[in-house]
Amino acid sequence: DASDIEKGTYPHFMLKEIDEQPFVMRKIINEYQNENNELKLDANVRQAMKACDRVYIIAAGTSYHAGLVGKQFIEKLAKIPVEVHVASEFSYNMPLLSEKPLFVFISQSGETADSRAVLVKIKEMGHPALTITNVPGSTLSREADYTLNLYAGPEIAVASTKAYTAQMAVLAILAVDTARAKGLALDFDPMQELAIAANAMEILTDQKETIEGLVRNYLETTRNAFFIGRSSDYFVCLEGALKLKEISYIQAEGFAGGELKHGTIALIEEGTPVIALVTQAEVNYAIRSNVQEVVARGANAMVVSMKGLEQDSDAFVLPYVHELLSPLVTVVPMQLLAYYAALHRGCDVDKPRNLAKSVTVE
Ligand code: G6P
Repeated sequence: DASDIEKGTYPHFMLKEIDEQPFVMRKIINEYQNENNELKLDANVRQAMKACDRVYIIAAGTSYHAGLVGKQFIEKLAKIPVEVHVASEFSYNMPLLSEKPLFVFISQSGETADSRAVLVKIKEMGHPALTITNVPGSTLSREADYTLNLYAGPEIAVASTKAYTAQMAVLAILAVDTARAKGLALDFDPMQELAIAANAMEILTDQKETIEGLVRNYLETTRNAFFIGRSSDYFVCLEGALKLKEISYIQAEGFAGGELKHGTIALIEEGTPVIALVTQAEVNYAIRSNVQEVVARGANAMVVSMKGLEQDSDAFVLPYVHELLSPLVTVVPMQLLAYYAALHRGCDVDKPRNLAKSVTVE
């Protein structure tokens, strides 16, 4: 019950939940591992993943953004093709399904009506469903064949933070478990890498003053803000922009770096804040040239890079984590940017206007 959860010394639930992320990571590591340090997952889930020929991820909002990263985990590690769909669009734009689809519903609350509508439909069609949720007794959990728990603890702030990073962590574990069940050789130890990510999150949550300073330089009075990135950084851009618009009401959009020249760059004016994420070696050069393009048009560029890829002019450098898991860590300063932007602009951080924590109408 939300009313039983205390903020303690925190001014807002959102800040408390941001700070809880390293502990949630460690909880997930414990819950999904046995005494022999082997992955511990429901054998039925393992079987369902092994048996399917394609995974269809269905979700809304922040959970959809976690699904985009989850697709990378499952395709790169478990070698199963994945489609990610916004729940509310799925029925109109239903793809031709593969022969043996497995539906994976990602939902913090387990109550999102649009996701439930898809679940009802695909169950009628006779397809198996797995729900990944923070609320094991929820509707989506009860009505699916299998459930994986996020173990994030109650999330009260409307803007989702710790559920998002928990979703990505559980999806990484699921992907590795499936890969191992299929006998694929991996050089990726998910628990070790998640533990490193947890430590990195802790370093970041200790840098609140630095991030609040960035808000003063970039976001205090602006009307709009853009996030650019490539590869998995692009997915974090979508989530970073969503956080910022949800609670600070700054008009914010996340763009794929390569799309700038196809229209987006027309939006750049003198002083427009552009937050560029640089965590993937493969796209370092390409995204850096995007930064130069927007700076040449007057943008106030804030580069957030990962240790190893940093340059002197970067505004913020993230501790190094495995490239696959970088979204879990990159998002933390994005959450804090949104938090301090909302705070400085006098917005109601935990209860933004017009939004609900769980949307139970279609
Ligand atoms: C609402 C919340 C978002 C959340 C979305 C999906 O819009 O405000 O934070 O991402 O619903 O919710 P779910 O519980 O299905 O993850």
